[in-house]
Amino acid sequence: MSKNFRAKVINNFALNPRTFLLEIEPIEETIAPKPGQFYMIQPDSSYDPLLKRPFSYIRKSNGKIQFLCAIKGKGTRLMMNFHSNKIISMLGPFGNGYPIFKSNHISLLIAGGTGIASILSLSNEVQNKYLIYGARTRDELLLLDKIEELGDRFIVCTNDCSYGKKGMVDELLKDFISSHKDNINSIIIYACGPLPMLKAISKISAENNIKGFASLEENMACGFGACLGCAVKTKQGYQRVCKEGPVFPFKEIIW
Ligand SMILES: Cc1cc2nc3c(=O)[nH]c(=O)nc-3n(C[C@H](O)[C@H](O)[C@H](O)COP(=O)(O)OP(=O)(O)OC[C@H]3O[C@@H](n4cnc5c(N)ncnc54)[C@H](O)[C@@H]3O)c2cc1C
Ligand code: FES
Repeated sequence: MSKNFRAKVINNFALNPRTFLLEIEPIEETIAPKPGQFYMIQPDSSYDPLLKRPFSYIRKSNGKIQFLCAIKGKGTRLMMNFHSNKIISMLGPFGNGYPIFKSNHISLLIAGGTGIASILSLSNEVQNKYLIYGARTRDELLLLDKIEELGDRFIVCTNDCSYGKKGMVDELLKDFISSHKDNINSIIIYACGPLPMLKAISKISAENNIKGFASLEENMACGFGACLGCAVKTKQGYQRVCKEGPVFPFKEIIW
């Protein structure tokens, strides 16, 4: 089955002035995605910009796939204006996705900013979980309605204390570890967000001997392993985020 397919835009609306939620429905047969995988979306049929843009999916249900997109440049500005019923060109799903373990453990999901999209794709699939989510302000916390059902297993923070606890996710992670000293060996961390956040979390997990995985959202070009534009330094040498990643064990990445 080809990973190249056309899709119809079902919904596309702003969540705040810088972010929108896009829902599409493939009109050709597609491969089912795994949590943490991503799709390449063509921003415009005029092929300017030429390259498709990578986005983690949030969920696939009833044949529809949702994406959370932050406006960064020309591609995402064009995508923001996708109207309902528009036919767009896509590729995917790509990447390795998050490893899911059968053993009885606590999945500690950690998201910063739009990293929540990738983390939610996993949250839908794992059972014994907690979710730590941080943003600079209340306005930047997105999709809360999809998370609050976690109740007291959902821990949220903002830098300016406009919602949840004050601080950053790495501070909440330290608190979480302190309050789970007795079952620390059963924690597995899954994180997606800005690179400094991932780096801080990786350091804390190493200090506490906790296994963890980071989904990297590097700049990309081709998206399927051909150009090396997304390579990152790991203990195995340079690896392509789009092909060997985007999910890597913390301990493999040279930060
Ligand atoms: C595997 C993967 C999953 C992703 N998932 C999501 C997602 O779920 N939601 C989301 O909003 N974004 C996600 N991104 C990032 C998204 O792909 C980029 O923001 C988008 O391609 C920017 O396109 P643009 O044409 O608007 O910006 P461009 O015109 O291409 O770039 C504008 C500016 O943004 C910078 N930029 C572009 N891409 C990135 C990037 N990946 N990281 C940091 N800076 C960048 C450029 O250097 C430039 O300064 C993901 C990226 C990857 C690799
Ligand atoms: S973007 Fe081309 S190899 Fe990854």
